[in-house]
Amino acid sequence: MTAEELYNRLKTIQPGAVLCTYSMEKVEQMLPIINEINELKKERDAVILAHSYVAPEIILGVADYDGDSFKLSQDATKVEAKTIVFSAVRFMGETAKILNPTKDVLIPGPLTGCSLADSITGAEVRALREKYPDHTFVCYINTTADVKANCDVCVTSSNVMKIVSSLENDKIVFVPDGLMGQNLIDEMKKRNIKKEIVLHSGCCYVHETYDSELINFFRSQNPGLKVVSHPECHPGVALLSDYVGSTGQMVTYIKDQPEGTPFLLLTECGLNARMQYEFPNKRFIGSCSMCKYMKSNSLENILETLRHPEAAQHVELDEATRVAAKKCIDAMFYYAAK
Ligand code: 13P
Ligand code: SF4
Repeated sequence: MTAEELYNRLKTIQPGAVLCTYSMEKVEQMLPIINEINELKKERDAVILAHSYVAPEIILGVADYDGDSFKLSQDATKVEAKTIVFSAVRFMGETAKILNPTKDVLIPGPLTGCSLADSITGAEVRALREKYPDHTFVCYINTTADVKANCDVCVTSSNVMKIVSSLENDKIVFVPDGLMGQNLIDEMKKRNIKKEIVLHSGCCYVHETYDSELINFFRSQNPGLKVVSHPECHPGVALLSDYVGSTGQMVTYIKDQPEGTPFLLLTECGLNARMQYEFPNKRFIGSCSMCKYMKSNSLENILETLRHPEAAQHVELDEATRVAAKKCIDAMFYYAAK
C-alpha cells in the first residue's frame, strides 16, 4: 500500500463529524432556523442562556448569554425579559427559576439530567444532616433545587476552593461530587488549610473517564503540551494537569498562553469546539467526550420550545423549596464576592 492509498482511505474520517463539522450547506440549512429563533425571541420577550458545552451554532447563532455555570447564574439575575430559555440541563434551569420566580424558565433539550445532579436527593441530604449535625453542608451547583434547599451554601467549580476555605466552620459535608471533593481536600492540604471534609460518592460520567495514562500518552506525542482539566476529573488527572479550573477559568488560562501552544482539554468537547473558533492560532488536540444531556440541546428543539413549549419544559418549583434553595445560592454569591 502506498502512502497515497492509505491517505485516501483515512482522509474522510472526521472525529465528532456528526455534531461538529460544518459545511456551507449545513450552515445554510441552519440559518432560517437561527433567524426564526431570533425573531421569536423578540415576539415572546425571551432571552437564551447557553452553557459552553452546547453545540457551537447555539452559542454563536442564538444565545444572549453564554459561559460557565457561575457566570450563567449571575447572568440569570440580570435578565429583564419575561422568558428565559436555558439551553443546558435542568439544574441550571432550576437555578435561573430560583433566582427569577416570576419569569417563565424553559428547558429545550429532551435529556435534562446530569449524572452529578441525579446522584443525590434532598431526602438523602436530610439523612446526612442527622448524621452530621455540627457540619456546614456545601453543595455543588450541579444539584437539584431540593438538594440546594437542604444545604447551607452552594459552590461552582470556579469558586469551590475560595468558598469552602472561607467558611467559619471547619467541619464540612460536600455533596455530591466525590472527585471534586477529593481535589478540594488535596488543594487545601497543599495550602495548609485545615478542614474536615466528608464526601459523597457522586461523579460526572464524562469527566471520570480521563486518567493519567491518557495524559502521559498525549504528552509523549506532543512536546510543549498544556493539559487543562476540570475539577470534576480524578485527582490523578488534576495532579498531572498544568491548569485545573471551571470551563470559564480554562478559557482565561488558554487566552493567556502563546500562539501555537498545543492544549489537551479534559472536559466536555463543546469547550474544545468553542476554543477552536475563539483561538484559531492555538492548537487543540484530542478529547472528544460528549455529555449526552448538554448535547440534547439543538436549534430545532429551541425553536419548538419557543413556538409551543410543552408542560414538562417549564421549570416549576414548590415555593418553600425555591426560597430555601435561594438562601443557599445567595450564600454562594455572598462568599464569592468576599
Ligand atoms: P462549569 O461550572 O465549569 O461550567 O461546569 C459545569 C459542568 O457541568 C461541568 O461538567
Ligand atoms: Fe453533568 Fe457531567 Fe454533563 Fe456536566 S458534563 S452536565 S457534570 S453529566
